[in-house]
Amino acid sequence: MRKKIVAGNWKMNKTADEATALLSEVVNMIKDEVTSDVRVVLCPPALYLTTSRQYLTAGGKISLGAQNCHEKASGAYTGEISAPMLQSIGVEYVILGHSERRQYFGETNAQLAEKVNIALENGLTPIFCCGESRDLRENGDYDAFVKNQITESLFHLSAEAFGNVVIAYEPIWAIGTGLTASSAQAQDMHFELRRHIAGQYGDTVAQDTSILYGGSANEKNAAELFAQSDVDGGLIGGASLKSREFTIVVKAV
Ligand code: G3H
Repeated sequence: MRKKIVAGNWKMNKTADEATALLSEVVNMIKDEVTSDVRVVLCPPALYLTTSRQYLTAGGKISLGAQNCHEKASGAYTGEISAPMLQSIGVEYVILGHSERRQYFGETNAQLAEKVNIALENGLTPIFCCGESRDLRENGDYDAFVKNQITESLFHLSAEAFGNVVIAYEPIWAIGTGLTASSAQAQDMHFELRRHIAGQYGDTVAQDTSILYGGSANEKNAAELFAQSDVDGGLIGGASLKSREFTIVVKAV
C-alpha cells in the first residue's frame, strides 16, 4: 500500500528566526492531524536542517527533507552538501531534479541518475521531480518528455531500489504561477506515469509508488487534487510557508 505524503518545499525562503517560528507553528498545528498512513516532510533550506531536526523529534510524526544533494559522497566541491552528510544529521528525504535546479543549475537527467543513486545508497528517500514546460504542454509533447525524465534518471534502478523512490509531478507552468493543473490534468498524468512505471517494473511496484502533485497546490484546491485516485499527496511550495495554509493542505490528504 503506497504512502500519502505532503512535503513542504520552503525553497530559498526565511531567515533563521522566521524558520524557527514557522517550524514550531507547523509542528504544533499538524502534530495531531497526521494519521499513521500520512507522512509529512518539511524541507527547509539546508542551513536550518540541524536545528529543525530538534523540533521534529519533539513532534515525532514529521520527517525532514533536504532540497538537493551532490552526486558525489565527498570531496573538493566547494559549497555543496552530500547525501552522507544529510543522512548523518537525521534527514530522511531529499528533493532531486526540481525544475528550478534543472533550469538555473543545469541539472541533467544523467546527473540526476547519479544523485538518485547516492541518495539511495545513504538511506535517503529521493522525491524525484519531473514535469513539462508550458510550450511542451501546449504542443502536446509533454507525455513523452516527462516519461523520458523518469526513464533516464530512474529506470536503471532495480525494482527494490525503485521502491524507495517517491515521484513528484510538477508541471513547470503551474509552479509559483497560481495556475494549478486541473484535478483531471493531474490525474491523467499521474495515471500515465504509473502506467509507465508498470511497464518497467510491473503492476505491484507501480501501485506501491507514491506520486505527488506540485504546482500552486494550496488550501483551496488540495482536497480536490488529493481526491484523485492516482494523486498520493503534494509537493507544496508557496503554501508551505504559511502554517495555517499548510495545515489545511496536510488535513486534505
Ligand atoms: O516544490 C514545490 C513546487 O515547486 C511547487 O511550488 O506550490 O509554490 O507552486 P508552488
